[in-house]
Amino acid sequence: MCSSPEAGILVPIPQYPLYTATLSVLGAQCVPYYLDESKGWGTDLDTIREAYKKAKDAGTNVRAIVIINPGNPTGASLDPEDVRSVLEFAADNKLVVMADEVYQTNIFQGKFYSFKKGLRELQKSDKNKDGKFDSIELASLHSISKGMVGECGHRGGYFEMVGFDKEVVEQIYKFVSIMLCPPVIGQCIVEMMCNPPKEGDESYELYKKEYDGIFNGLQDRATALYEAFKQMEGVECQSPAGSMYLFPTISLPEKAQEAAKKENKSPDEYYCFRLLDATGICVVAGSGFGQREGTLHFRTTFLAPGTDWVGRMTKFHKEFMEEFR
Ligand SMILES: Cc1ncc(COP(=O)(O)O)c(C=O)c1O
Repeated sequence: MCSSPEAGILVPIPQYPLYTATLSVLGAQCVPYYLDESKGWGTDLDTIREAYKKAKDAGTNVRAIVIINPGNPTGASLDPEDVRSVLEFAADNKLVVMADEVYQTNIFQGKFYSFKKGLRELQKSDKNKDGKFDSIELASLHSISKGMVGECGHRGGYFEMVGFDKEVVEQIYKFVSIMLCPPVIGQCIVEMMCNPPKEGDESYELYKKEYDGIFNGLQDRATALYEAFKQMEGVECQSPAGSMYLFPTISLPEKAQEAAKKENKSPDEYYCFRLLDATGICVVAGSGFGQREGTLHFRTTFLAPGTDWVGRMTKFHKEFMEEFR
């Protein structure tokens, strides 16, 4: 897909920065499309269409669209309608769909709706009279580093190819086979993630207890953090829907922006470093993921155990705002 410098891939902004980094390495273009913060960081088809047209008009050969669902850094979870409309757009424009679904079990609102499910439903629907959904190419990504498994260090994951030409699949297998595979334990964990203990199995009770414990802990911390953000001056945040993150907007006083400038930092970077120094809490400035010009954000996880750090964050924020008021 990235065989020439004119090739382009639609990538959501804000994004998981490995996408733009990989495109740089491959010498292809990032075609950014902005997510809609007012819609819980969902996809907005008009914005995607506009980004696509602008890139085409500039001579870019747009080949694929990346969707990160649930979102990093946004914490969004797409509803079925958004998933289907992206698939329809991809079918109309013959784009490969890369669905990064590594947070598929980190869902706090509603249910996860996969791109494969959306595709299969469209293939069976009236919308497929001309067979346009039969030839869509979809790659879905998953990893053992997320979800309740959370085994980042073992480096296991997979991608599933749906609707790709047989010969393309063969070439991809060959290409992947010349790379090194993950260690055996990583491969075993992939197997265990895909085929977890079932009801009636000897280890099921313990597995379920641990799984639910981790899930509930994440949900409790996400809610605690969200409630804290709601109380913080100049902070606005979507309610936690999915993944492991919240990505609030912050409005910082003029004087804080000036202080940032003096340190050659963007205002959100300055805020994040001050937070780190004061509390030991590490969050990432929105500028690291891309954000609409003139807006400021930061991304925070809710992985750290306990919730006392939420109080430390609230205290820091209050003092920071006082300092620069
Ligand atoms: C959206 C997204 N995709 C993929 C990955 C990569 O996961 P890993 O390399 O741990 O499998 C991450 C990790 O943070 C991510 O946030």
